[in-house]
Amino acid sequence: MQKLAIQGGNPLQGEVRISGAKNAALPIMCASLLTAETLRLTNLPDLHDVGTMRKLLQQMGITAKSATGEITFKGDKVENWEAPYDMVKTMRAAILVLGPLVTRFGDARVSLPGGCAIGSRPVDLHIKGLQAMGAEISIEHGYIHAKAKRLKGARIFFDIVSVTGTENLMMSAALADGVTVLENSAREPEVVDLANCLRAMGAKISGDGTDAITITGVEKLHGAHHRIMPDRIESGTFLVAATATGGSITLRETRADILETVLEKLTEAGAKIKVSGDSIHLEMNGRPKAVNVRTAPHPAFPTDMQAQFMALNCIAEGSAIVIETIFENRFMHVQELRRLGAHIDVEGNTSVVRGVDHLEGATVMATDLRASACLVIAGLVAQGETVIDRIYHLDRGYEHIEAKLSQLGANIRRL
Ligand code: UD1
Repeated sequence: MQKLAIQGGNPLQGEVRISGAKNAALPIMCASLLTAETLRLTNLPDLHDVGTMRKLLQQMGITAKSATGEITFKGDKVENWEAPYDMVKTMRAAILVLGPLVTRFGDARVSLPGGCAIGSRPVDLHIKGLQAMGAEISIEHGYIHAKAKRLKGARIFFDIVSVTGTENLMMSAALADGVTVLENSAREPEVVDLANCLRAMGAKISGDGTDAITITGVEKLHGAHHRIMPDRIESGTFLVAATATGGSITLRETRADILETVLEKLTEAGAKIKVSGDSIHLEMNGRPKAVNVRTAPHPAFPTDMQAQFMALNCIAEGSAIVIETIFENRFMHVQELRRLGAHIDVEGNTSVVRGVDHLEGATVMATDLRASACLVIAGLVAQGETVIDRIYHLDRGYEHIEAKLSQLGANIRRL
């Protein structure tokens, strides 16, 4: 199993290009199931999850041709409407084929995802939404089986804000008969990016980016070209790493408008940030100040940045409270950070981090994607060597992470 070895202590310096967003790429790749024509996607990140999604779509009969950073999909020969357990268990986003399959072909069999390291993560809202649109759904042998002649527009209220739930139902409604209104829908920028792609394919969607999205179904969608938005979590991760190490970095090809809460928190921690066009420059001098964090749906602070801020708080001046309101078990990194010398107390969904003046390198284990990023940041500031085991989690969501960090002056290598 591959590991990362980091010699801590180097401040990050220099420029880095931000990749296309994983959480926009995965749903948008599923949109290729909605049309027989070609969907050309550019700025696709080279990630394990993108490869898994491509394989899944190909198993269904989609043809996929790649060039650097892009894939062209064609869905004129889709004849297998099933997402098997083996794929869904490694990548929960595979649930995003459910809506497109049932709305275009009237039939879909998708494995139930089951649990994952950060919590139980059910898909009941995806199922209820499809039922409200007239799909007949049964759960058989661990699979969701959905059938419908043609889905019908409906008014759907989400009890809990769900990102992939909103995306699945938005894609379903694009080809449904009539108008669908998604209320208490997710406002994440990746939902807007999917809506932009669907509009380029001929869908009628308005209100994306707010908590009420209206979709008027059309008979058919056509081919399109769409450029995937920049990854706000990758951007945020590099900015936190630069703040923690007292560095000075410039991110290129990113967007500050989708990172507002993160930039505010970094400013509170003492970083100086300048935005110019699609670049963000961050400069940090001295020890960061501890910053409280409370995760919540967009536009509040993203749960996918919680672990990285925990690492920052570990070496900050003062104490911080970190509250996780989205996932019930997203503090797996705490035990690993403690192995590096961090002082963290956890009670339910709340952690209290008391900053220490240094961490010490040790061997730690990555438990999920963003927890891995947190351990990388901790390793970059720790004294001596940190070895991170099970880094396959990191490869699911960060494109060429050690190459990018080396380019910024980090002493990091893959074992
Ligand atoms: C997406 C992101 C993930 C991010 C998360 C929250 C992708 C591919 N993944 O995950 O990186 O951490 O949003 O911003 O975009 N829930 C239910 N029933 C459902 C669906 C969700 O109870 O049917 C609950 C979940 O257990 C969780 C909360 O709703 O507590 C939010 O989850 P959701 O927004 O659906 O997360 P994902 O879309 O899976």
